This record gives sequence, C-alpha cells and structure tokens, in this order.
Amino acid sequence: MKIALIGYGKMGKEIEKMALERGHSISSIIDQNNTNDFSSSDFLNSDVAIEFSKPESAVSNYKYCFKNNIPVVSGTTGWLKQFDKVKNICNEKNQTFFYASNFSLGVNIFFEINKKLAHLMKPIEGYKVSINEIHHTQKLDTPSGTAISLAEQIIENLSHQTSWALNSSNNSEINITAQRIANTPGTHTIKYESEIDEITLEHKARSRKGFALGAVLAAEFIENKKGIFNMQDLLNL
Ligand SMILES: NC(=O)c1ccc[n+]([C@@H]2O[C@H](COP(=O)([O-])OP(=O)(O)OC[C@H]3O[C@@H](n4cnc5c(N)ncnc54)[C@H](O)[C@@H]3O)[C@@H](O)[C@H]2O)c1
Repeated sequence: MKIALIGYGKMGKEIEKMALERGHSISSIIDQNNTNDFSSSDFLNSDVAIEFSKPESAVSNYKYCFKNNIPVVSGTTGWLKQFDKVKNICNEKNQTFFYASNFSLGVNIFFEINKKLAHLMKPIEGYKVSINEIHHTQKLDTPSGTAISLAEQIIENLSHQTSWALNSSNNSEINITAQRIANTPGTHTIKYESEIDEITLEHKARSRKGFALGAVLAAEFIENKKGIFNMQDLLNL
C-alpha cells in the first residue's frame, strides 16, 4: 500500500520502519512544518493515511482526509470528546476511519481480561478498583487514553464505581493516578483492593514497536472497507 504519514514524531518514525518492513511504501510525510504538502499529488494519491500527531491537529487532519477520499488510521489521543462529531462526518461522507487509543495487540487482549475481571467482581463486596498509568515525560494528555478506556470498561461491567476521576478520593469513582517517567512507553496497572487481599492486572509496553505494528495491520485491514473500525474488529474480539 502507499501509506502517507501525518505526524512524524516518535510514532510516525516507528510506523515508517514497520510499514517498510511489511512491504509497503511511504508516499508522503506530513509534519507541522510542511502541512502545505497535504495538497501534493503524492499525498492525495495515497491508499491510506496513518495519523499520529497532536490532539489539537488530529480532527482537522481527519476532516481533510475524509474530504479527499483518503482512509484514515489514527492513534492520536486527547481529542476524544469530539469522537461523535468525527464519526458522523466520516459516515456522512462514506469514508473510512480506524481509531484506537492503543494499537498494541497485547493491550487489546488486556482490555478483554479487564472487562471479564470487572464482570466477575460485580457481585463481590468490599473491593475498590483503581488504575495507575506511567508514560514518558513528553506525553501531553493525562490520564492516558488507554487508562480512560480501561476505566470505561470497568464502569460498564461493575456496579458500585460509576465514574472515574484523576486523583479521586471519592468511593463511587475509579481513582486514576498518572506518573510521568523518562523512557517509559506505557504501563497500565489495575488494582482491586480489599481489607483481605489485592488483585493486580498489569500491561507493560517494552517499546513503541507494538503500537506501530497494530497501526500498520489496521491500515492493511481497512483496505477496500468503508465505515468506522477499531481493534475489536481487527482482532475479531
Ligand atoms: N494509539 C496508540 O497506540 C498510541 C501510541 C503512542 C502514542 N500515541 C499518541 O499519538 C500521538 C503522537 O505520539 P508521538 O509519541 O509520536 O508524539 P510526538 O510528539 O513525538 O510526535 C507528534 C508529531 O506531530 C507533529 N505535528 C504537530 N502538528 C501537526 C500537524 N498539524 N500536522 C501533522 N503533524 C503535526 C509534531 O511536529 C510531531 O512531530 C500522541 O497523541 C500520543 O498520545 C498513541
């Protein structure tokens, strides 16, 4: 496939390596200093755009791709309050959008275990669940999109904690704590604690390679498809 990269930071560079390794070509690379290249024929003739930029640029980048019939795979976090709007524009224009707040295959399996555990814990009294996430110091959004997804999955499956908040001491909320430590690609820990014991579920990314693989697999998956897709579609979960 001819893959355009939007955002050429840590993830863009990792995706470039993975795409070439899997036999694709990179048709165009757009970063904040060359957004004029959005109108280049190389960009406009791409089969797919993989977008990992910044929360403030993501939505306008999607809209531009939808307007120009370019399917989008994106992992940019921190813009999700506008998800319904993006979904509507994509569907109205009969376009293709694959979004994941975390492209790691392992994390998406972890999501399924998280839902299952919350479901098992539902009838059991005395446990309080909390989430801790650790990322590198340049991460802009807090808590991570993955921590929010984990919290939402728990809320859907558990009855006594009905919302989440950062650094919360309210018993009806899932407390999310966030740490920023250099060179940490992403660690998420879920803890159920009672007076008697504690259950811990943890996923630790070792590098960004896993996110890049998921994003390139997503680009391959949406070839010739229309609509909105996510990792559950890709992994058939
Ligand atoms: N979904 C996932 O699996 C996953 C994994 C890692 C990171 N992320 C998210 O992906 C995003 C990028 O992460 P990163 O680590 O590569 O960040 P980064 O800061 O290293 O790179 C972002 C790049 O976007 C560029 N940019 C800024 N404005 C732009 C614009 N208007 N158009 C195009 N490019 C523009 C910046 O110049 C920079 O090079 C973040 O939101 C991060 O949270 C998601």
